[in-house]
Amino acid sequence: MRNLILYLGVFLFAGLMNAQELKVIKLDAPDKTGGKPVLKVIADRKSDREFATDKLKSKDLSTLLWAANGINRADGKRTAPSANNAQDVDIYVILEEGAYLYDPKEHALNPIAAGDYRAAVAGGGQAFVKDAPVSLVLVSDLTRLSKEPNEGTKLTGAVDVGIVSQNINIAAAGLGLYTVPRGSMNKDELKKVLKLKDTHYIGLNNPVGYPKK
Ligand SMILES: Cc1cc2nc3c(=O)[nH]c(=O)nc-3n(C[C@H](O)[C@H](O)[C@H](O)COP(=O)(O)O)c2cc1C
Repeated sequence: MRNLILYLGVFLFAGLMNAQELKVIKLDAPDKTGGKPVLKVIADRKSDREFATDKLKSKDLSTLLWAANGINRADGKRTAPSANNAQDVDIYVILEEGAYLYDPKEHALNPIAAGDYRAAVAGGGQAFVKDAPVSLVLVSDLTRLSKEPNEGTKLTGAVDVGIVSQNINIAAAGLGLYTVPRGSMNKDELKKVLKLKDTHYIGLNNPVGYPKK
């Protein structure tokens, strides 16, 4: 019994140390003016599924997240519209070294869990997701839409998620990045890793990377 308690203690301590290894990542200033004309970007938008494994340049990650659902006005409103300005969609950023939550106010990534969870984003059938250096998991916090979320609330959350995903699709096309919006993923595992509640709706994910040469 004493040995069991000792083992459990070591195990829990190791887990705690692991999570503490990750630090807040302060993102560069996003590029808010560059890129191709918007209609050219829309003309180029497509789903791509063959990624180079190279990490994203920090400026590209910064611009992508800002375009996805960052703050674009002095009153705190966002690049993506949301029902009643509920701002219900959070972006979880899955990197090789760990899972983070995008903080639009600080334009930073806050650590959630150390470890490589790209396989959870891939789910059962689409191994190409594990090549992408970044996956963005889009989650609607339904409690920001309603005090008592129901199926209708989930629909609204799904719409809000879809808009953020399209911002990612468009920004990726403008930045010369590959992405694909995906409904498939291992939601049970992601719920645990990202420490989500039943009132969080995991809607879509977008793996993102440079084109495979
Ligand atoms: C809600 C939604 C869910 C999707 N889920 C997946 C998916 O799980 N895996 C995948 O490879 N593509 C997925 N896609 C991408 C579609 O297959 C793709 O958009 C479609 O084939 C049209 O191709 P295009 O995006 O290049 O125009 C999804 C798209 C949407 C809008």
